[in-house]
Amino acid sequence: MSSRLEEALASTAQVVADEIELLLPRSSDPEAQLTEAMRYACLNGGKRLRPFLVMTGARMFHVAEQSARRVAAAIEMLHCYSLVHDDLPAMDDDDLRRGRPTCHRQFDEATAILAGDALLTKSFEILGDEGTHSDPAVRCALVVALAEAAGHRGMVGGQMVDLMAASIDMDMPAITRMQQMKTGRLICFSCEAGAILGKAPQPLRHALRAYAHDLGLAFQIADDLLDVEGDAAQVGKAVRKDEEAGKATFVSLLGVERARAQARMLADQAVAHLDPFDSEADLLRDVARFIVERRA
Ligand code: IPE
Ligand code: IPE
Ligand code: MG
Ligand code: MG
Ligand code: MG
Repeated sequence: MSSRLEEALASTAQVVADEIELLLPRSSDPEAQLTEAMRYACLNGGKRLRPFLVMTGARMFHVAEQSARRVAAAIEMLHCYSLVHDDLPAMDDDDLRRGRPTCHRQFDEATAILAGDALLTKSFEILGDEGTHSDPAVRCALVVALAEAAGHRGMVGGQMVDLMAASIDMDMPAITRMQQMKTGRLICFSCEAGAILGKAPQPLRHALRAYAHDLGLAFQIADDLLDVEGDAAQVGKAVRKDEEAGKATFVSLLGVERARAQARMLADQAVAHLDPFDSEADLLRDVARFIVERRA
């Protein structure tokens, strides 16, 4: 990983943790266990890739730091909700996440379901709040974009197909569509958020969307490869689960070597979409390369 990317990821991790700390303080109310579970799910750990994409995109369009931080915290909360629910016994039934017990193992299933629900709604509260942007049209655009990315045509829809993928035959276009929905759409929102906040011209937004499309697919192929080749201690979650669950992935369809080649090709393609940008997009170029070679 380039040292500038390493620094930028570390700085994002700090910024997003501080912002979540502000937005989600400890509580002594009777429902304090819910806040604890929400904090458990989204503090201490994770690559913070989606916040990094928001912060980097926002800088490209000279967006106020405060706006970027809030959107970064919102997308991370939504992502963490998706992980809490993804790990539930009814879904992937996992015990380990980011090197610690999953939320339902640390608390209990009902608390984990509620913590996920509350993180999801909190992320929209943040986007809709005046503190995120002075222009209500911008706030509204963020809310709609995130709702579309997260809902039945996006992440949640993709999760539904993922659960069915164990029992139906899926070819390359079907798997691509599933991965695009379950992982790609939130990554796409993260890449576009800075452009929405900065009211960027359409052609530049389009270039970022094209970048995000290829980046999201490359990212999920890397995740599927880690499930096959990774080490649980390093990855921070159980590995070799997809095959056991009969999940259709790029790796199950193409095999390890072709899947890796496909991920690298997609990362190169993602970088090529950044041609309209100058050096201000260098971190986005770096992260595309990092994503396919990562070990966690
Ligand atoms: C894991 O996402 C779930 C997928 C969408 C593949 P990440 O690999 O970004 O998980 P964290 O946030 O770093 O833990
Ligand atoms: C999860 O995909 C994608 C989400 C929307 C949460 P996976 O089930 O492959 O993610 P991991 O491997 O558990 O992180
Ligand atoms: Mg899953
Ligand atoms: Mg899972
Ligand atoms: Mg996985």
